[in-house]
Amino acid sequence: MKILAIESSCDETAAAVVEDGHRVLGEAVATQVDIHRKYGGVVPELASRNHVVDIVPIVEQCLADAGLTGPALDAVAVTRGPGLVGALLVGLQVAKGLAYAWDKPLIPVHHLAGHLHAVFLHRPDEPRPPGPAFPHVALAVSGGHTALYLVRAPGRATMIANTRDDAAGEAFDKVARMLGLGYPGGPVVDRMAAGGDAKAHRFTRPLFKDGSMDFSFSGLKTAVRTVIRKGEALPEGQALTDLLASFQAAVADQLIDRTVKAARRHKVRDVALVGGVAANSTLREGLRAALADRGMALHVPPRRWCTDNAAMIAGAAFAEVEGLGAHHVPADRRLNATGSWPLPA
Ligand code: KG4
Ligand code: ZN
Repeated sequence: MKILAIESSCDETAAAVVEDGHRVLGEAVATQVDIHRKYGGVVPELASRNHVVDIVPIVEQCLADAGLTGPALDAVAVTRGPGLVGALLVGLQVAKGLAYAWDKPLIPVHHLAGHLHAVFLHRPDEPRPPGPAFPHVALAVSGGHTALYLVRAPGRATMIANTRDDAAGEAFDKVARMLGLGYPGGPVVDRMAAGGDAKAHRFTRPLFKDGSMDFSFSGLKTAVRTVIRKGEALPEGQALTDLLASFQAAVADQLIDRTVKAARRHKVRDVALVGGVAANSTLREGLRAALADRGMALHVPPRRWCTDNAAMIAGAAFAEVEGLGAHHVPADRRLNATGSWPLPA
C-alpha cells in the first residue's frame, strides 16, 4: 500500500510517499528556518503563508522523486495535529483536495504517532531497520514536545510522562537566545558545548515528590539566567563553553534518567528516541550507554526523520490502518461527496 502524506504542523512543509509503512519511495521538504530565524522563533502567521507558497511544489517534487502519479497511490494522509492551527489547515486542505480529486481515502494522523513511527523507516536502497520490539518505551523530544510513551503495538501508544512546563528543545532555544547564539538553539549549543566542563555549574535535576516520571526544564532555564546575570557581560570563550556543557548535561541527564526508569518500570527491552532533540550527541550517546549497561537497546532514526517530516506521517497512517485490522482503508476513513468525513455513527 502506497500512501502520500503531507506534514505542515510547524515550520516544515513536507510530503512523502511510503510503501507498506516502512519503505520511503520519495520525499521532499521545504524548511522555513531562515525565515523565522530573525524573530528568534516560529511566527505562526508567516509559517501559514509560507506553507501556502511551498506546498504544491513540494507535493509535485515528492511524487517526481517517487516516480509516481496520484492514481498510483492507495491513500492520502495528513497531520491533523497538534501544531499551529493555521499551518495545519494548509496541509489539511491540500490533502483533502488531492484525496477528493484522486478519489482516495484520507487518513488523518496524530503528529506524535508520526514521530513514534520514524524508527521503522528506510529508503529502498537501505536495509530495513530491525526497529524496536513491542511493547517498547519511546522518548519524543523536540521543540514542541517532551514526553515518554509506552508503545504497545504499531499505532497504539499511551503517554506515560510529559513535561510540566517547557519542552527540552524549547529550553535549548531559550538558553541560546539568552546568550545571543541564534535560532534554533539546539544545534549551536550541541556544537559549542563540546570541550566544555559539564561540572562547571551544578544545575539541579528536578524530582517530583509524587514519584512521577514527568519532566521540567523551566527551573534549569532560570538557573542559567541567574548565572548570566551574575556576570558583567555575556559569557564568552571557555566560560561560555562550560556553561553550555553544564546546561546540556542537565537536560540530557534528566531525559536519560526518566527514560531508563520508564523502561525498567515497564520491563521493556527496546527504547526509541525520536524528535528534533534526538539529534543531540550527548543525549544519544548517554542514553545508549545507560541502556546498554542494563541490557537494553536504543533505536534512533536518521536525522532527516528525527525532525518534522512527512515520511513518518505516511508510515503512521499505514500502521493505523493495519491496527484497525484491515489491509484496505475502512469506509469511515473515506471522504464523502461533500469532501468532509462522515460523522461517526
Ligand atoms: O522535531 P523538530 O524539528 O520540531 C518540533 O516539532 O519542534 O525539533 C526542533 C527542536 C528545536 O528546539 C531545536 O533546537 C532542537 O529540536 N534541536 C536540538 C538539536 N538539533 C535540533 N536540540 C539539541 N541538540 C541538537 N543537536
Ligand atoms: Zn514534531
